[in-house]
Amino acid sequence: MTEPRLLCLCGSLRKGSLNRKLMTVAAARFDGSFEEGDLRLPLYDGDLQEAQGLPEGVARLAAQISAADALLIACPEYNKAPPGLLKNALDWVSRAEGQVLEGKPVALVSATAGRAGGERTQSILRWMLQPLRAEVLTHPEVLVGPAADAFDASGALVSERFQKAVDALMARLTAAAREKQAR
Ligand code: FNR
Repeated sequence: MTEPRLLCLCGSLRKGSLNRKLMTVAAARFDGSFEEGDLRLPLYDGDLQEAQGLPEGVARLAAQISAADALLIACPEYNKAPPGLLKNALDWVSRAEGQVLEGKPVALVSATAGRAGGERTQSILRWMLQPLRAEVLTHPEVLVGPAADAFDASGALVSERFQKAVDALMARLTAAAREKQAR
């Protein structure tokens, strides 16, 4: 069996993103290969789609999702909800041929300024993924908050508790990806 492939998506574009740091820490614990998808897509516009089909970046992202055995989504919390960047990407890929997210194991992680670590944003993201038929892992929840001091200079998680939760989640994601490969 080939090694499972993980596609990582980060809901923050900024260079110093704490969610990208968390995503990087988590991806390193996946037993397989990984790459990051680019969410810098145009805003969803039905007229654009009708005129020229799926934009190149959307087609690329949909193909990456389709080829992946599992997804890891790092989701910031903006006003208690996921950023528009992620919703836009999900809306676009839902217009691609076939149901690219159907049956795809997905793990969620989040890092926030607030103490709750993104509990509310993750709940909403779960609802957002439901119509796309993704199989979102339910536990353990990786909610890193307050995250400002959660990483050391090398990008590693300072707290053993958070690292253990990441390890357990990524072990489950690897197992789900292998199961999917075997189906
Ligand atoms: C935030 N932030 C935030 N934090 C939180 O715990 N709960 C919230 O509802 C919000 N809302 C919010 C709205 C907007 C528009 C911004 C820009 C920020 C703070 C946020 O958690 C913090 O800036 C994170 O560091 C953002 O994630 P990245 O960019 O570091 O990955």
